[in-house]
Amino acid sequence: MKIKIAPSILSADFGKLNEDISTVEDYVDYIHVDVMDGHFVPNLTFGAPVVKCIKSKKPLDVHLMIENPLEYVDDFAKAGAEILSFHYEAVKNPINIIKAIKDNGMRPGISVKPGTDIQVLEEVLPELDWVLVMSVEPGFGGQSFMPLALEKIKWLREKAPNIDIAVDGGITDETGKLCREAGANVLVAGSYIFKAKDRKAVIESLKG
Ligand code: DX5
Ligand code: ZN
Repeated sequence: MKIKIAPSILSADFGKLNEDISTVEDYVDYIHVDVMDGHFVPNLTFGAPVVKCIKSKKPLDVHLMIENPLEYVDDFAKAGAEILSFHYEAVKNPINIIKAIKDNGMRPGISVKPGTDIQVLEEVLPELDWVLVMSVEPGFGGQSFMPLALEKIKWLREKAPNIDIAVDGGITDETGKLCREAGANVLVAGSYIFKAKDRKAVIESLKG
């Protein structure tokens, strides 16, 4: 499978977000946008009005780390999200929100925290084509990769050979290679890309 790269703008300069995006967008497949509400995770970022201001040639992969994601599906559709991922731990009925996301013309994705068994997704997998495996506790960039994500990726790849399996947190050329070998085909990387002197070179190294 082709390896796709999604730089996380959490590590970009929010004061010149579109300029920072323009330095990477030619080499990547998606722009990963982290939305945090200060409740589901102990950090706050931004909401749909800011996402709407993001200008990119590449599709926006929006990672909601919020409670009640169902309430905001419509807002993020209008803000231009192409992929909308929510956390399994944040909802009671994932099928409802998957349906709402599809009804709003977006691709639904589901994300799991490091402490959540991946097997909980077995029932909903046929409804999905994007799973986002967290390899750090969601909330902050710059943390170390947790290898437990690799077993989850392998399990998912066996169950669902054709879906996009994205991995998010602590991705570098070394951990990215482990994730590719385990079966992930989308690598989300924030600090590794935006803190690099040569962003293009780092992105190419992630592709393997
Ligand atoms: C963390 C976010 C990640 C974060 C990754 O909650 O979901 O997307 O930006 O940052 P790095 O790549 O620095 O671990
Ligand atoms: Zn993320």
